[in-house]
Amino acid sequence: SADVAGQGLLGSIRGLFTAAISKAFPELGHVEAALGKCAQYKHGDFQCNSPMSLYPLLKARGGGGVAKPHDVARAIIAALPPSPLVESTSVAGPGFINVRLRPTFISDAVRALARDGPAPPPLPANRKLKIAVDFSSPNIAKEMHVGHLRSTIIGDTICRILEFAGHAVLRVNHVGDWGTQFGMLINHMKTAYPDFLTHPPNLTDLTTFYKGAKQAFDESEEFKDVSRKTVVKLQSGDAECLQVWKLLCEISRGEFQKVYDRLGVRLEECGESFYNKMIPGTLDKMEAKGLLKMNEKGLLKVEGGATVCMLDGFTYPLIVRKSDGGYGYDSTDMTAVDYRLNTLGCDWVIYVTDAGQRSHFDMVFERSHFDMVFELLGVDDPVADRDRGAAKACGWLQDASAQRLEHVGFGVVQGEDGKRFKSRSGDTVRLVDLLDEAVKRMHATLVERVASGKSPLSPEKVDEAAAAIGYGAVKYFDLRQHPATNYVFSYDRMLDTRGNTAVYLQFAHARLCSILRKAADEQGARVPDLLASGVPITLAHDAERALAFELMQARGAVANACRPLTIEHNSRACVVLRLDDTGAQRSARSGVELTRLQPRKLQCVYFTDVVEAASAHPQPRDKHASL
Ligand code: ARG
Repeated sequence: SADVAGQGLLGSIRGLFTAAISKAFPELGHVEAALGKCAQYKHGDFQCNSPMSLYPLLKARGGGGVAKPHDVARAIIAALPPSPLVESTSVAGPGFINVRLRPTFISDAVRALARDGPAPPPLPANRKLKIAVDFSSPNIAKEMHVGHLRSTIIGDTICRILEFAGHAVLRVNHVGDWGTQFGMLINHMKTAYPDFLTHPPNLTDLTTFYKGAKQAFDESEEFKDVSRKTVVKLQSGDAECLQVWKLLCEISRGEFQKVYDRLGVRLEECGESFYNKMIPGTLDKMEAKGLLKMNEKGLLKVEGGATVCMLDGFTYPLIVRKSDGGYGYDSTDMTAVDYRLNTLGCDWVIYVTDAGQRSHFDMVFERSHFDMVFELLGVDDPVADRDRGAAKACGWLQDASAQRLEHVGFGVVQGEDGKRFKSRSGDTVRLVDLLDEAVKRMHATLVERVASGKSPLSPEKVDEAAAAIGYGAVKYFDLRQHPATNYVFSYDRMLDTRGNTAVYLQFAHARLCSILRKAADEQGARVPDLLASGVPITLAHDAERALAFELMQARGAVANACRPLTIEHNSRACVVLRLDDTGAQRSARSGVELTRLQPRKLQCVYFTDVVEAASAHPQPRDKHASL
């Protein structure tokens, strides 16, 4: 029904149970039913866990006529409004309610899905949002590495979901195409390739070029000196410097594009250099809010004479201007935020980088480290006028519901040894090599299968299939992990033909297509016509019913994925906050980054403000309050 389409299936069932709870126990006021998918399919489709949590509440109020959670469950069932969705309910275990959906409801839903194709969920409040997703964003004259691979894959997926949901998405490639490194790169180009203008070098191997420049820079004082002057020349618009800079950008751009083509990812470049001219304007806004100050020598681990923005709750400042007047990553990002919020008027800006940049974005955006802790504790910050991140402090983002900045920080890709994924020689793995290797291995497997008669692929199809499966495997292996966690890279597991892998999924998909083709042949029809005719769907087997049940929730899943993109501080359920007022480690830890805490290693966070806030809150004041 239209209702189910609006709130999603889970929402509809939850609505039924919420209504039943208020009918059965009006004395409790409005209680939203706790509803989830059944852990085990054989018990039902959904389960309602509310009886267990309502029971103590009712008992505390004098009984409510219930002697055990099972009574609560039965009372809720008796109060359930009639619904065409529900076939049966049953009480199980300590008192939860299993719900089974009516089979005809499921088969009708899947039939409509087959006929009409997947439809996006309705736009919340009927509003199409303008969303900029800043992802991939490699650095010019450097190779893309596996960190950029994660950003590219996760970012592209976020874009695809938001685009499917009907929003206007800007796919922004914030390439690192500006900054001090260009002094040495331009200088190296001029010394190592003096006739670069007439004979531009073929620089497909950018690492070698970058390393050459770095080596010259480290070895020669003179080279260093010229490089520094070259930066100034480039920034003041010197024609020759700009020419070399453009050449380097073009070469890199070509290399990046090859990777994007292989992965089927679309991006629009709007790199750091784009913001350079706007930086002074943004800094003026920060200055007007009293956010900037000159750093004194020996302070904050930042050079004396640099202009910084020190925010409450952070141990390190944003460096907005170096002592030589140059701008860097921080001022560029402040300016990009200013531009995206105030010039482009984006409703939402999403940044996809490794989790290590979390602090940077907290400082640039609107959060303070205190916010995270108070959020975890579920209490309000006792300090009302605390400084937040710089964008907030500038007076942007005043209406929290209107514009939103968000960092999606992902974990590290590790080698089998648990350390950062490296090549055999100990260098970071070049993305192109990783992609080549995946395809090469898949190719070998396919050739073997063809030779042993297991696969009917013609030789020319083998190349095509190896690429499709290889790239698919790289993407899926990354996407099936929770983005916030680290994972161990393994070609063997990635290319496994069984289990939860891309190879298995693509194989299953190919088989399904072939079943459909055969069915269509039998009826003398084409597959799309067969589907459009609304063929009856019989769900005879349990596995068919289970599959159909998942399929009909695709729309709700998309709607859910669009809501809380923020990767929950992955430790929410497992951080033990030790409310310890000895203060021994307080100062050392006050800037601790909660996102860095490992779920499995319980860690303690010491926070004086938290002790204060928690004692102001009517929660038990035991020394170890676990959240
Ligand atoms: N170029 C950066 C890197 O390679 C990523 C940039 C992310 N975007 C941003 N607006 N800071 O790590």
